Amino acid sequence: MSDITSESVIETAAFPSAPHLLEAMARRRSVPAAALAAPAPSDRQLRQMLTLAARVPDHGLREPWRFVVIAGEARAQLGRGLAPLYRAANPQMDAAKREKFAGIMERLFLSAPMAVVVISRPDRACAIPLFEQELSAGAVCMNLLHAAQASGFGAMWVTGWAATHPAAAALIGAGEGERIAGIIHVGTATNVPPERPRPDVEALTAFWTPPAP
Ligand SMILES: Cc1cc2nc3c(=O)[nH]c(=O)nc-3n(C[C@H](O)[C@H](O)[C@H](O)COP(=O)(O)O)c2cc1C
Repeated sequence: MSDITSESVIETAAFPSAPHLLEAMARRRSVPAAALAAPAPSDRQLRQMLTLAARVPDHGLREPWRFVVIAGEARAQLGRGLAPLYRAANPQMDAAKREKFAGIMERLFLSAPMAVVVISRPDRACAIPLFEQELSAGAVCMNLLHAAQASGFGAMWVTGWAATHPAAAALIGAGEGERIAGIIHVGTATNVPPERPRPDVEALTAFWTPPAP
């Protein structure tokens, strides 16, 4: 694929079928951070992935999301900041347990070589419902998973304490009125987890019929 940047958006009215895209979607699966190693996406690959991730439906064109990339030395620096926040947030917890989880926070970003944090930043003053703006942020996360895998990388969407505790989210970069929609770990898959049972779409699908009179 040629370079895709926000300046070189594909302008076409036609939608040729893309069987390879369907196949890639059918193969998509999450790869946990523990199974993601270097190399991380290059700068060029990252920009392309983010450009594709940002190509989502967006009611009102508010761009109610943004990205924070955690890579290189920043991964350890962030972990060193998260661990004391975890301890401070859990003063009543059994000390051994608290240390265990503080250690997990310290190492959270060390396994995968890169994480892209998708931050939901809805405009609460506009007419577009909050829910719809947050759905758009979720769509960005999903697109990013596909873009990462189509670029040859493994990826996984996680949240957890670091994404949801206000002090941790603030350290990661979520400002006032913002929330972390997802932390997307990205890297080179060292092994791919076995497939899991997929939803029974038939059982989850109905065709609408008019209510009985
Ligand atoms: C919003 C959101 C948050 C998630 N957070 C976590 C998480 O913190 N930890 C985790 O193990 N999986 C989490 N998951 C689930 C994984 O991303 C993944 O979907 C799951 O392991 C199933 O794998 P699959 O994507 O191959 O179906 C989350 C999924 C979503 C949509």
